[in-house]
Amino acid sequence: MAKEIKTIGVLTSGGDAPGMNAAIRAVVRKALANGLKVKGIKKGYMGLLNEEIIDMDRRSVSDIIQRGGTILGTARCMEFKTAEGQQKGAEICRKHGIDGMVVIGGDGSYKGAIALSRNGINTIGLPGTIDLDIACTDYTIGFDTAINTAMQAIDKVRDTSSSHERCSIIEVMGRNAGYIALWCGIANGADDILLPEKYDYNEQRIIDNIIDNRKRGKTHHIIINAEGIGHSTSMARRIEAATGMETRATILGYMQRGGSPTCKDRVYASIMGAYAADILTAGKTNRVVGYRNGQFVDYDIEEALAMKKYINEYQYEISRII
Ligand code: ADP
Ligand code: F6P
Repeated sequence: MAKEIKTIGVLTSGGDAPGMNAAIRAVVRKALANGLKVKGIKKGYMGLLNEEIIDMDRRSVSDIIQRGGTILGTARCMEFKTAEGQQKGAEICRKHGIDGMVVIGGDGSYKGAIALSRNGINTIGLPGTIDLDIACTDYTIGFDTAINTAMQAIDKVRDTSSSHERCSIIEVMGRNAGYIALWCGIANGADDILLPEKYDYNEQRIIDNIIDNRKRGKTHHIIINAEGIGHSTSMARRIEAATGMETRATILGYMQRGGSPTCKDRVYASIMGAYAADILTAGKTNRVVGYRNGQFVDYDIEEALAMKKYINEYQYEISRII
């Protein structure tokens, strides 16, 4: 028989992402509507181990749906990677009457969620990352805001780049994943898109592309480079030396991770938050919520972590052609 859940906790972990607040708000309000009590854990697993735990009611999540970041704060916590840390975390949950937990974060945070589950705390993961690098889902909380922020910034760089007839290398976030670069590459009409999953470090091909484009009369050149490849500044120096075209690097950085969430991020994060509260209420554990083929669904976390995600070949191909 499923364990009866009376009180749940909610925490955000790993890199923050716009829409996390919408998810927290939905978890709190749907769980309260389901008759549960809710506690907020500050600063991820670190805050759990430090017992930074607060009671939450409807009003605790007022006026946050439009705010970027996470009102609960987030952190990285090495101690929670140890068996002792995980047992301590579960004990602290029990001490505070918490029998269920919603963890909003990325793949790393899910490993912590599995550990909590194994230690007797029913746990559900929500995909919170701007990188879109979670295999079981076509959507992650924050990606839509991040790509729109980056797209607008790249449009601005393009204006000055075309006025000065320069080449611009614009570095977008994504330490291991090229989804932001791919989407902006298409949305901003970039001439070259460098993705960690695909890049062959053939800089000569980029140089040849710039020279060919110039021969055809093109006066500026936009390269979108993912953080995972990096080295945009030194790449700019080399490209300028090889092509004679003035080349500048712009690293967009953390601005992509902040800001007010888009409508899509607010709505999807709200639905996912409510969904997590519902499946916890129903007694489920060790699940992660995803969005697949137009539906909100849930998977076993271990199965979800074993899934592989690949850059869509067709999208990559057309990004280079159009
Ligand atoms: P993300 O969740 O965005 O992938 P991280 O990989 O930094 O971010 O993970 C966030 C936190 O999740 C870590 O600081 C740690 O507390 C916890 N975590 C990561 N890996 C594990 C693991 N193998 N076991 C338990 N907890 C983990
Ligand atoms: O949130 C995801 C991400 O933005 C990655 O693209 C990036 O590599 C990482 O977070 C950097 O986060 P931090 O600097 O906080 O470790």
